[in-house]
Amino acid sequence: MRALGMTKGPMMRVLMVAPPGAGKGTQGAVIATHFGIPHIATGDLLRDHVARRTPLGQAVQAHLDQGELVPDEIVLDMVREALADAAATGGGYVLDGVPRTMAQARATYQIGLELGMTADVALHLKADDRELERRLLARAALEGRSDDTEETIRRRLRVYHELTHPIVAWYGDRGIFVTVDAMRPADQVGREILAALEVMRSFVHRSPDQPRRAVDLSGLGAAFGELPAPTP
Ligand code: AP5
Repeated sequence: MRALGMTKGPMMRVLMVAPPGAGKGTQGAVIATHFGIPHIATGDLLRDHVARRTPLGQAVQAHLDQGELVPDEIVLDMVREALADAAATGGGYVLDGVPRTMAQARATYQIGLELGMTADVALHLKADDRELERRLLARAALEGRSDDTEETIRRRLRVYHELTHPIVAWYGDRGIFVTVDAMRPADQVGREILAALEVMRSFVHRSPDQPRRAVDLSGLGAAFGELPAPTP
């Protein structure tokens, strides 16, 4: 897939880790257009299955409605398929909504390794819970997403803090991590993200004959009581 308004240059592989309402969907679309890469949003893919009443959609609907995570194997199959498609269209991507747990982070890295397309940048959008709640309740009035109720928004935020935030802390040590203040207006946040990613792009691709700097999750196991990932 190619988007209008893209800039020329080496493609980018970006994954976003951010709480509900921080702007993953909004900024994922901006990034995809700017770099001409597919925007792969696991929430959108899952909601599409629910809307089409596929067997997968029926299996995951309750998880989405309740703001709980869908089982890893379902999400990871989707990610594998979407990244394989992205490989066929140039190899860049912006991943929105995955990884959400340490197990998903490890598995996403493995899939990236197998396909030769691990992420160049882990982008964190930072915003406080009160603002996130406000945004999602405002959206509820307009769009009526089944998980945009007060109780479910709080559960989604809790899931984020308990299960996803530890990944953010880990990416902070990896050298490919970019954090952006997402409390400001969306267009301002978007401009800052693109500026940061352009800097990262020249950094990542400065020496094309050198191995790509990969998202190395091999250190995660010890921190989370799991076996380390195999050495690439
Ligand atoms: P998902 O669709 O990923 O939902 P989410 O993480 O809760 O995030 P949102 O889509 O609500 O917010 P966003 O960060 O994308 O912000 P947006 O740009 O939309 O996942 C839904 C569910 O699917 C999960 O709960 C889970 O059940 C399942 N799922 C998905 N991935 C999974 C995985 N990997 N593993 C297991 N389960 C998974 O913006 C929100 C609103 O704010 C919009 O109205 C927007 O216009 C507005 N806005 C955006 N930026 C700004 C700004 N800077 N200022 C003011 N308003 C803004």
